[in-house]
Amino acid sequence: MLKDTHTAEIEAIRSRYADQRSAVLPLLYIAQDTYGYLSRDVIREVADILSMPYTDVFEVVSFYTLFYERPVGKWVIQVCDDVPCCYLGAEEVIAVIKQQLDISEEQITQDGMFTLQRVKCLAACDRAPVVQANLEYIYNVTPERVDTMLRELRARVESGEALSISGHAAEDYEFTANGTMRLIERRLGDIPGSATSGVQRREAHKINTQVQQSVAPEPAQAVAEQRIAAESPVAPSPDRSSAGAHPDLDNEDGSATPAHAAQQDAPRAEGESA
Ligand code: FES
Repeated sequence: MLKDTHTAEIEAIRSRYADQRSAVLPLLYIAQDTYGYLSRDVIREVADILSMPYTDVFEVVSFYTLFYERPVGKWVIQVCDDVPCCYLGAEEVIAVIKQQLDISEEQITQDGMFTLQRVKCLAACDRAPVVQANLEYIYNVTPERVDTMLRELRARVESGEALSISGHAAEDYEFTANGTMRLIERRLGDIPGSATSGVQRREAHKINTQVQQSVAPEPAQAVAEQRIAAESPVAPSPDRSSAGAHPDLDNEDGSATPAHAAQQDAPRAEGESA
């Protein structure tokens, strides 16, 4: 029972709120991480801890899509299939994941490792297509990168890493220019002199652009570029890496440069207004 295995944690959460009903979300996260999903019995257990009616807790669980009422895999892979991600290949990514895992949406792989879901905008459109795995963001996923992504996720389970299906330890990952996955270091803002200062990003982007100009774009990305060019008054940058990398994101040194930042940093022509 949660009240026996997580006594201190539950009491600490309850003590934060004047009304203990307010603790329902964090307690449900603990329950989901402990049991893997929120069955009727688990929902009832949380309701008992908080002295709430079962139906009140059930309504919360059924409202939020990140609470799972049925068993899911150790990794819940959610692929954004909203418009910007689809423009850049989300449907192709989903097709490759389904093929590699031999499952459809909402199914679990035979080894219990993965569940695949479609979701709407994950609010990271500038790094589309975006995949969320147990709330960890993985940016710029292409069909060619799916295999690496799945192998990395599987390896983390096999290494004995304690996963949080509710995303307690969620981080962000990107692909480097050589196709490996890398944890993105979190920073509070663009601090001058840091590895992500505007000047350094601009310099890294410039080098990256020179290196990548001689590389032909992938067919799928070339099509996406043509679509964007046809529908946007601003022409997209022409460079793409052969590994399907986003030109503004995968720099030669493997660092990330958001597209919007690169555009802001670009020198303006004389007389051009800001
Ligand atoms: S459309 Fe996919 S993150 Fe916004």
